[in-house]
Amino acid sequence: MSRSLTIVGIQWGDEGKGKITDLLAQSAHVVARYQGGANAGHTVVVDGKKTVLHQIPSGILNPEVLCLIGPSVVVDPATLIDEIESLTLAGIKVDSKHLMVHPGANVVLPYHKRLDERRELARGAKKIGTTGRGIGPTYEDLVARTGVRLQDIASGPDRLRNRLKDVIEERNVLISHLGGEPFTIDEIVSSYIPLGDRLAEFLGDTGARLYEMCGSDSARVLFESAQGTLLDVVHGTYPFVTSSFTTAPAAFALSGIGTPSNNMVLGVVKAYTTRVGSGPFPTEDLGTFGDDLRNKGGEFGATTGRPRRCGALDLPTLRYAIRVNGVDRFVVTKLDVLSGFGDFPVCTGYRWKGNVVTDIHPSMFDDDIEPIYEIFEGWNDSLDGITTYEDLPRPAKIYLERISSELRTELLIISTGFDRSNGIILANPWQLAK
Ligand code: IMP
Repeated sequence: MSRSLTIVGIQWGDEGKGKITDLLAQSAHVVARYQGGANAGHTVVVDGKKTVLHQIPSGILNPEVLCLIGPSVVVDPATLIDEIESLTLAGIKVDSKHLMVHPGANVVLPYHKRLDERRELARGAKKIGTTGRGIGPTYEDLVARTGVRLQDIASGPDRLRNRLKDVIEERNVLISHLGGEPFTIDEIVSSYIPLGDRLAEFLGDTGARLYEMCGSDSARVLFESAQGTLLDVVHGTYPFVTSSFTTAPAAFALSGIGTPSNNMVLGVVKAYTTRVGSGPFPTEDLGTFGDDLRNKGGEFGATTGRPRRCGALDLPTLRYAIRVNGVDRFVVTKLDVLSGFGDFPVCTGYRWKGNVVTDIHPSMFDDDIEPIYEIFEGWNDSLDGITTYEDLPRPAKIYLERISSELRTELLIISTGFDRSNGIILANPWQLAK
């Protein structure tokens, strides 16, 4: 009987999903990425060596794993090739046995990036703070049915030229309106056809492969999300969101298979909260607590290098994320960052329209809303070298147990450092997936 795990971030992204995917991929056969694109930055550290992945699934460091990039990921071919080449240089094998990309995945083109950039400039103070990777405009073309797909750049110049004819004029009008330089079909064709040729060997029906694996007897399949629940285009802090469906239930629909029968959803939560870009973040701390979290936690974007906004854990928002994802167990990352902070605040509810609320919806963040904090006892001991739950400092255990009871969900993994080896796994996740 096959088993699968869906790994999903339950805050605003950067929860440490890459590390958890890499860890669990050590015992998996397939890792399938199902949304987003090169806006993601998944950091994996093994024996002190850091690898940052943007589009390739975080299972690539296990040579036995097949990594799949599904049809709803928006692929930037040049950066995907860079990623393949830098992994190869680092001695990691990336060939068609290890990586398969769906030919129907939409391609990020130069006009998508320019539009992204120009729109952000035009928004001024109201900017979303996008990663500038062209993600929003590429998804717009997908739903407008004007997208260019990998199969279009891998099937020769005539086909690509034809696809571009249907869309480029309109995109150029918009770019010029926003003060940018328009593009010609020729320049795109000449730069993208070689990229399509290079990627051709990786193209294949990822959905059929997943279906086959999920139907086989002993396969272990990981579904890897990018960004986080509060950045979901429908369920997040709209309009300050990304343009894809980031939640766990989207994994199967976007990958092209029905719901597997033995799936478990793992919700990944950082021991505090961070966010990059603009938009509501009610527990953001603009004082020393926030600064210290940023410095100690190395809270700078893996994709853009931007400093992350930092603040207290937000239990009501997490409860919402547990619901929309159907989280079965949760994972806490970066618990080590809280060592030495002294007592720290946690948001346990909100004051909203004269009431105290403990269950929220992100649209409430558009109103005046005030977090209610409870102060938790801190701990000074380092978590270095701790490999069992029992050995954690008592206040850390109290903190974890309180999160678990507030989320009405059991804890499965505690990450206590960047390296793959820094962590405590409380039960075998594959055995729980039934
Ligand atoms: P976009 O995905 O580049 O369009 O950016 C939209 C919003 O999502 C911005 O606030 C970004 O900072 C945020 N975002 C996109 N990708 C990530 C990620 O991988 N981690 C955290 N935030 C992200």
